[in-house]
Amino acid sequence: MNGRGHVRFEQIVKMHGNFKALKGVDFDIRPAEFFALLGPSGSGKSTTLRILAGLDAPTSGRVMIDGKDVTSADARDRDVAMVFQSYALYPHMTVFENIAFPLEMAKMAKADIAPAVQDAARKVKIEHLLERKPGQLSGGQQQRCALARAIVRRASLFLLDEPLSNLDAKLRLETRAELKKLQRSLGVTAVYVTHDQEEAMTLADRMAVFMAGEIEQIGTPAEVFTRPNSLDVAAFIGSPPMNLIPARLAGGNVIIAGQPLATTRADLSDRNVTVGIRPSALRIGPTGLPAKVDLVEDLGDSAVLDLDCAGTRVRARINHDDIPPENSSVFVTARPQDIHLFDPDTRKRI
Ligand SMILES: Nc1ncnc2c1ncn2[C@@H]1O[C@H](COP(=O)(O)OP(=O)(O)OP(=O)(O)O)[C@@H](O)[C@H]1O
Ligand SMILES: [Mg+2]
Repeated sequence: MNGRGHVRFEQIVKMHGNFKALKGVDFDIRPAEFFALLGPSGSGKSTTLRILAGLDAPTSGRVMIDGKDVTSADARDRDVAMVFQSYALYPHMTVFENIAFPLEMAKMAKADIAPAVQDAARKVKIEHLLERKPGQLSGGQQQRCALARAIVRRASLFLLDEPLSNLDAKLRLETRAELKKLQRSLGVTAVYVTHDQEEAMTLADRMAVFMAGEIEQIGTPAEVFTRPNSLDVAAFIGSPPMNLIPARLAGGNVIIAGQPLATTRADLSDRNVTVGIRPSALRIGPTGLPAKVDLVEDLGDSAVLDLDCAGTRVRARINHDDIPPENSSVFVTARPQDIHLFDPDTRKRI
């Protein structure tokens, strides 16, 4: 490990005409970290990555790589390899020529190119496909070719923009796992753009959640999942999404459907709140909030229940063994530590 691949964004703003695509973005990425940029479509993820790659210039702010100010440095002068959503392979070149291309651009000696290409191809298991053209490869093989072309440059920083989105579900899962192993074994920093929260949760050491041109939260997947700091992050992370229920907080209890549920926040004075409870945190029990089972989605090992809780729709994820019949009446509860409270006006965590 070389300790390179440290990235820092300081107050990055990006205007497209009058439109503010990035509103002052700050983050710090450590060497060898797998860092995901997660957020809905149009939230500014690709813009951030393009600025880091040097393909776009920020309107204001500073980009630092390994302690150097690279804000106005050319893309070619950054130690960065990029993999895009569309693989952007050259269709008229063989796989070998595609992988060799960055080395030729860098004027590497001919004798050194072939072994470097072989080595990169081996790492992503396409060494048997070097003579083919991209059109003769499957989507997954093209993806690996694009990765090999990034690896071959031995950059300390890998930028990946939705690199798995063209793959079918099974191949996506396989490639996802391989990508993570590859990043670890190369010891490189990876910045990975995705709108798929599951992808970010499984791949990332830490992630930044983007909403409308701003970072709402930075943390490990576990931190963001267990302590979302806004309603928007809470709603975006987790599947099925967190239940969000308007309620009154009174004496440390939230009152839902006329029934109290204890929270850990007896310190707060009475007020209106939005209560957040993950579907997996809801339990069917002998007491609690009365609810009617509208629908059961049996997933084999677990089930998702659609519940009507005095007019409020709530979803619960429960063990397969505990499935109540549709249209039955049940009680649901949640532990105090599983109840999140948000301010309905500021949308921030209380
Ligand atoms: N060249 C441009 N001119 C004008 N607006 C742009 C330009 N490029 C991006 N935008 C706008 O900036 C915002 C952020 O775009 P960006 O591509 O970063 O989103 P994203 O988070 O990558 O979304 P997606 O998940 O759909 O790829 C969007 O509203 C987009 O329409
Ligand atoms: Mg994008």
